[in-house]
Amino acid sequence: MDAASHEGERLQKVLARVGIGSRRVCEDLIAEGRVLVDGEVAVLGRRVDVETALIELDGAPIGVRPDLVHYLLNKPAGVVTTADDPEGRPTVVGLVPTEPRVFPVGRLDFGTEGLLLLTNDGELAHRLTHPSFGVEKEYVAELQGSPSRATLRRLREGIELDDGVTAPARAALLEPSVLRLTIHEGRNRQVRRMCDAIGHPVVRLIRTRIGPLADRSLTPGAWRELTGDELRSLQRAVAVPEAQSGG
Ligand code: URA
Repeated sequence: MDAASHEGERLQKVLARVGIGSRRVCEDLIAEGRVLVDGEVAVLGRRVDVETALIELDGAPIGVRPDLVHYLLNKPAGVVTTADDPEGRPTVVGLVPTEPRVFPVGRLDFGTEGLLLLTNDGELAHRLTHPSFGVEKEYVAELQGSPSRATLRRLREGIELDDGVTAPARAALLEPSVLRLTIHEGRNRQVRRMCDAIGHPVVRLIRTRIGPLADRSLTPGAWRELTGDELRSLQRAVAVPEAQSGG
């Protein structure tokens, strides 16, 4: 019997504490072989060190470290997406609590507004920014002029940019000069470059959704912690499908 089996906390208790379900439900999940600890199917009675164990449910990482925080910020324009700006401009990290230290997941330009996630959950952040997980991001862009139907089709089918053709996207006009664009890549200044390429530069850009996360009531500059349900839907959005995980 190895040390892990009698040290640490019982897995079902840890899963129940982070809101996966009652202890009974969590025991069933473990018995069904749906929970992995450090890449291996966990057995009932398994104990884990919550500081170090990588726990996955149905291929999705479940952050169980007690110090993990996940903030959803509505970034205002005029704030840089970094922890520290050499030019002394206000930063997104300056808008949320200083302890524990968090970092932004991905990047919004200085002038871009809208939803940004900040966390100290490295595994989740990695998956959210990795192109292979393809998490959708939705933007609302006010444009110069009004794109034609044919131009919208170009946005949907792929636009030639200097770093390659963009992947298929969803594009719809909410008003003659207001575009809703949904992409699942995260290239630098992608929306602005796509809109430049169709001849309708962005006047104002707002990110309105990150995967399952949206919140119209969060005012610019305000932040809140994710709810348990939001965190779990985000974790599901970056789950490794069974076929890929070999399970
Ligand atoms: N695309 C952009 O062009 N800018 C952003 O800030 C985000 C996506």
